[in-house]
Amino acid sequence: MKNIKAIIFDAYGTLFDVNSAAESCKDKIGDRWENFANYWRTTQLEYTWLRSLMKRHKDFWQVTEDSLDKSMKAYEIETSLRNELLDLYKILSPYKEVPEVLRLLKKKDLKVAILSNGTPTLLNQLVNSNNLENLFDNIFSVEEVGIYKPDFKVYDIPVKKYQIDKNEVVFLSANTWDVSGGGNYGYNSIWVNRNQNIFDNLDYNPRYKIENLLDLLQLI
Ligand code: LAC
Repeated sequence: MKNIKAIIFDAYGTLFDVNSAAESCKDKIGDRWENFANYWRTTQLEYTWLRSLMKRHKDFWQVTEDSLDKSMKAYEIETSLRNELLDLYKILSPYKEVPEVLRLLKKKDLKVAILSNGTPTLLNQLVNSNNLENLFDNIFSVEEVGIYKPDFKVYDIPVKKYQIDKNEVVFLSANTWDVSGGGNYGYNSIWVNRNQNIFDNLDYNPRYKIENLLDLLQLI
């Protein structure tokens, strides 16, 4: 890929493991912890899309709480776990290759940023709790535009900030719909296919598919 000026990462599921909160409570949740975590994540994302369509924006933390409440009812999880799960969600673990990849990217003459549904407070807390705070040029949140991905106003944020062209951006996400969203907008979207998933049919084929972020270093 030539003429790349910015590397933009999705946060949840791409840099940070959204299942790590429920996994930390697996002794209390039992074998169902992974199904519960997936249900929570799916409900959370559905709420972002539905709120955008209904023009009833609530920030990502409120959506995370609302979706947790539904998921806890669906899985009959004891209410005493609510605060523990929410506290853990604020300090999700990064995938293991993330710190090394970010350190190597820092040496290149490129902007490196996050573009996420998360609020600025949440994203800063995630980055700081994992000692990644000096590795990004910017942390962009949808709160700047008050609507969730995949609205194009979100993907416009870094392009406007850096005064660059859409096709000078490499965008990485593990969320297939976000890869399609960024790709349809005009980014070079790369799918981080961590779990051998199936890609969506949403008018975009990823520019590249990689299994983890280390593979990115060979592409740029
Ligand atoms: C985000 C969600 C999509 O970080 O993972 O924006």
